[in-house]
Amino acid sequence: MMILSVWPKRCYRSRLLWGLLSTMMVLLTLRFLISGGHEELLSHSLPYFMPGGGHPISPPLLPSSDDFLLLPTPKACSPRAPSLLVLVVSTPHHATQRQAIRSTWGGAHWAGKFMVRTFFALGLPREPSLQSVLEREAAEHHDLVQGRFLDTYGNLTLKTLSLMGWAATHCPGALFLVKVDDDIFLNLPGLAEELEHRTTLTFTYLGQIHWRVWPNRDSRSRHYIPASLYPAGHFPPYCGGGVYVLSGAAVPVLLGAPRHVPLVPVEDIFVGLCAHWAGIVPQHLARLTGGAYFPPDRCCYQGVLLSVHKVTPVEMAAVWDSTTPYKETCQVWQWALGYLRCKALAWMAAL
Ligand SMILES: *[C@@H]1O[C@H](CO)[C@@H](O)[C@H](O)[C@H]1NC(C)=O
Repeated sequence: MMILSVWPKRCYRSRLLWGLLSTMMVLLTLRFLISGGHEELLSHSLPYFMPGGGHPISPPLLPSSDDFLLLPTPKACSPRAPSLLVLVVSTPHHATQRQAIRSTWGGAHWAGKFMVRTFFALGLPREPSLQSVLEREAAEHHDLVQGRFLDTYGNLTLKTLSLMGWAATHCPGALFLVKVDDDIFLNLPGLAEELEHRTTLTFTYLGQIHWRVWPNRDSRSRHYIPASLYPAGHFPPYCGGGVYVLSGAAVPVLLGAPRHVPLVPVEDIFVGLCAHWAGIVPQHLARLTGGAYFPPDRCCYQGVLLSVHKVTPVEMAAVWDSTTPYKETCQVWQWALGYLRCKALAWMAAL
């Protein structure tokens, strides 16, 4: 009698336990998928649920030489184009940021097997007097690509189209185009190593993927996107704008899309829409950190991470050492802790 009354209870308990456990598993899996916790995995399965592609190839939207005021010397890309073309999105009054990049990571001519050149993309200054200062800077460094449009936040999409257009017309031989903001520290040797595995893919669009972003419908926000312009509930996955990499072959294909997609004023979303239209699938690279700030640490900046945001010119100089090979910037224990250590440093700095 006793045994009989105990067994059903146990059965009931263990079933309850199993029920709870499996519900938790399902919830965790869902959270994992929705939060983009495993973007690598998802981005591999993306082609199966992305409709882009089947369009006839559209002629690329290319700039004429009249669309630029300042250009690097033609020698910059010929007779031999750099295999890694880095285009830093800058703005007229950021001369200090440009100089910091030139004297640190942007001064490199080689990264791994790739020949590298770094240029700066900007528009027209609001103060006409600044133009002569820019002309002197261009004459000295030959690395400014200045488009003929007002350099404002609202024209960022135009700046991207301008720099891609310049790359497609003046530097078509480049294997990869890296678009990067001027407050970013780029670990070029690390990135080159990552890209060496990806030279066989024709269309590369690589970065920190943003999943299921909803259009901002608040008309006071500078990211406001009216429903009349983009009625759908969310955007296709796209690479965050701080740093992303395109293969040289992807650039003219992307430039075929702007006539067919809504001119969303948020630069990275616009590029994502163009890629989606063209059927180019974004790929996630977690070491290209998103908006997170990491305090200056040579092992994190030049070893573990591929890019760090919100870095001041002074911090760039502080972490820069071009003489130590990038593999040797971390000690064994620092490599072992890797990303965790850098994340912990970031948490401590935020306290
Ligand atoms: C973009 O640049 C054009 C050309 O210089 C200018 O007329 C326009 O006002 C700018 N747009 C924004 C939103 O700043």
